[in-house]
Amino acid sequence: MMRLPIQRLFCTTVAFLFLFFRLGSAQRPNSASVCDYYAQAQFGANTSATQLKWIQSVVTLAFEGGSTLSNVTSELTGILRPGSINDVAIDLREYFNRSRASTNVRNAPVSINWLDQGSTIPLADFLSSKTETLVLSNTSNQYHLFGNFFTAFGRSFGCTLPPPPLSNTDGPVSLAYAHKFMNLEYNQLAYFIKQLAIASTHFRVSPQYRVKRSMSV
Ligand SMILES: *[C@@H]1O[C@H](CO)[C@@H](O)[C@H](O)[C@H]1NC(C)=O
Ligand SMILES: *[C@@H]1O[C@H](CO)[C@@H](O)[C@H](O)[C@H]1NC(C)=O
Ligand SMILES: *[C@@H]1O[C@H](CO)[C@@H](O)[C@H](O)[C@H]1NC(C)=O
Ligand SMILES: *[C@@H]1O[C@H](CO)[C@@H](O)[C@H](O)[C@H]1NC(C)=O
Repeated sequence: MMRLPIQRLFCTTVAFLFLFFRLGSAQRPNSASVCDYYAQAQFGANTSATQLKWIQSVVTLAFEGGSTLSNVTSELTGILRPGSINDVAIDLREYFNRSRASTNVRNAPVSINWLDQGSTIPLADFLSSKTETLVLSNTSNQYHLFGNFFTAFGRSFGCTLPPPPLSNTDGPVSLAYAHKFMNLEYNQLAYFIKQLAIASTHFRVSPQYRVKRSMSV
């Protein structure tokens, strides 16, 4: 069973996403999940491919910030770029780019570069349709990081045809990772969640969310 360093962050984030999708969306019938409904609305079909593409669009936009898109709000600065919340400067890159020993490997904090495919570059290429799909080598750390985000968010957005879980055979994820050393502060977590909420708004979901100081490590 694979565990990611940001596992607890997933759990927290997933809980909040549940909250806001229950409250959101006037148009969507209750019988349709957010993922299925918007996959159909955005891409004209409700298939595993369009569901994955919809999840990837929201998640990559939240992380990249839409720097190549003309119609994103300036509040969307991106999880992988410096930003601010509550007048506090935030820069979460250190958790992903190896400058901080925040990944737990066999109970010791180690530094791992989770952005070894160019960080925001492949995300921007996907968002601007420069590439048809999100292109990340499947032997990279970044592929595994984002693959796990897509699985986690696919679940929280209720995709009925979710992507298969990642194979564990490649790369450092074959080690047992557990989040233990990441320990985001309140404003950092709030920034992370707010970027995801703004990215979903861009794709017409109406999020309602609250950030609670609920993350324990
Ligand atoms: C999407 O397709 C899945 C699988 O065929 C189906 O279970 C689900 O009800 C569909 N959702 C919508 C909103 O059409
Ligand atoms: C990693 O991120 C931090 C900011 O959080 C930044 O200061 C540092 O330059 C980055 N390092 C690399 C190698 O990109
Ligand atoms: C990785 O991609 C290569 C070629 O694109 C493919 O042959 C291989 O099966 C993939 N491996 C995994 C674990 O998905
Ligand atoms: C942004 O533009 C795209 C087309 O480029 C469109 O599909 C989308 O609805 C627009 N989003 C907003 C929030 O205006």
